[in-house]
Amino acid sequence: SELPGRYKVRDLSLAAAGRHQIRLAEHEMPGLMALREEYGESQPLRGARIAGSLHMTVQTAVLIETLTALGAQVRWASCNIFSTQDEAAAAVAVGPHGSPEDPQGVPVFAWKGESLTEYWDCTEQILLWPEEGPNLILDDGGDATMLVHEGRRFEQTGAIPADPEPGEQGYSDELLVFRTVLRRSLAADSQRWTRIAAGIRGVSEETTTGVHRLYQLAAAGELLFPAINVNDSVTKSKFDNRYGIRHSLPDGINRATDILIGGKVAVVCGYGDVGKGAAEALRGQGARVIVTEVDPICALQAAMDGYQVARLESVLDSGDFFITTTGNVDVITADHLVGMKNKAVVGNIGHFDNEIDIAGLSRVPGVRREEIKPQVHEWVIPADEGQEEKSIIVLSEGRLLNLGNATGHPSFVMSNSFANQVIAQIELHDPNAEYDLDVHRLPKVLDEKVARLHLDALGVELTELTKEQAEYIDVDVAGPYKSEHYRY
Ligand code: NAI
Repeated sequence: SELPGRYKVRDLSLAAAGRHQIRLAEHEMPGLMALREEYGESQPLRGARIAGSLHMTVQTAVLIETLTALGAQVRWASCNIFSTQDEAAAAVAVGPHGSPEDPQGVPVFAWKGESLTEYWDCTEQILLWPEEGPNLILDDGGDATMLVHEGRRFEQTGAIPADPEPGEQGYSDELLVFRTVLRRSLAADSQRWTRIAAGIRGVSEETTTGVHRLYQLAAAGELLFPAINVNDSVTKSKFDNRYGIRHSLPDGINRATDILIGGKVAVVCGYGDVGKGAAEALRGQGARVIVTEVDPICALQAAMDGYQVARLESVLDSGDFFITTTGNVDVITADHLVGMKNKAVVGNIGHFDNEIDIAGLSRVPGVRREEIKPQVHEWVIPADEGQEEKSIIVLSEGRLLNLGNATGHPSFVMSNSFANQVIAQIELHDPNAEYDLDVHRLPKVLDEKVARLHLDALGVELTELTKEQAEYIDVDVAGPYKSEHYRY
């Protein structure tokens, strides 16, 4: 993986199947198609060299081809080992005008079911360019940004510290794999990441967890380039995180297990944007939903929405489904997993797999794992005093189940998220825009613009303010319609 590769996907012959899906997705992504229309001629991304790390799905294919339609050069990897749709990856690598024998598309490095080493190799590949390095990152979860920051940090300090031993603070298999890839990279070129970091004008970040990492870097004074927080555009987090999950969570559970949700008890950990969508979807299927929360405001919201709010420990033996949506670590511990009722289904839909301690489960004496099918595992827990042998079903090894077991959010909602991404990339690439070394959000007028681009497709008739009304509520007739502190 040392030299910049041209692409690495499962099978280029899947491109035709992927192209059909992309064509249908385009119809469902009016925001992205409107941006192609608006900017196709002026090419605001000419000269942009974008390293993209975001689930390589059909929807992302439409995003990538929107970026190239606006003049950008792009290299792409997935931000999760299970989330790639191989036919979409093939179609993007082949491109609309190429063929499997003569691929002419975008260099994509992604396939469903990567190992962790392959995952970091692919992430490295999007940052290695044949000539000049990338000047923009488009990130989801912050792994590409982390690779550049960590790589540069270790180049500056001269060494990577010794790895923690199993059981020590900070130890994880992923950390060790990441460090191994980084060591190899530093051995190949000891100034690589310093050079790449210096060339990057900015990053636009897709999700809650990645944004959290960026604010941590900014607070520590370690952020190396300006960032745009796309997640906190209203048309992203209040739509994708909520309505997207409302669609793709049951999709993932159904494709993985085909177990009836109606009449069962579903426990949703976290009642933020993702948790709200998850709880609504499960209730919509007829489940009795129980929410766990740490934040009194979100707990009260859940109660007012009619959900029981409980501690996980109190409901372990009643839950048929357990879904984590917190973006936090160790939310479901190995003890919790062992205490669940027989055949409980356990899955995570937050960004990283550290919400559920699957590694801890694997260390429970006598436990064994049966693969039911890829991304669906039964963990058999041996009989214990007074308890019979039982098992639990773990989806996608504790990684994002809507992308591991299904195909992620549907196109229409992703059109909103990705329209924000495209606008953010244009902003960061604009030579006249001055973004200081901090985490920024897009202005509200652009948020409203993204929403506006999606109204016609749904037959929405928007009411217009009269001049008098606009004056009365102190806004412009053309918006923005709300103050910055309004919460939607
Ligand atoms: P959020 O901050 O709105 O919600 C998280 C909620 O979890 C908060 O209300 C918080 O109080 C609660 N929480 C934290 N620790 C907890 C604990 N130990 N027990 C119970 N509740 C706890 O964040 P959002 O936007 O809902 O995102 C959640 C996660 O989902 C993030 O990792 C985000 O990156 C990811 N995400 C995944 C998507 C997918 O397609 N699978 C789509 C969008 C976001």
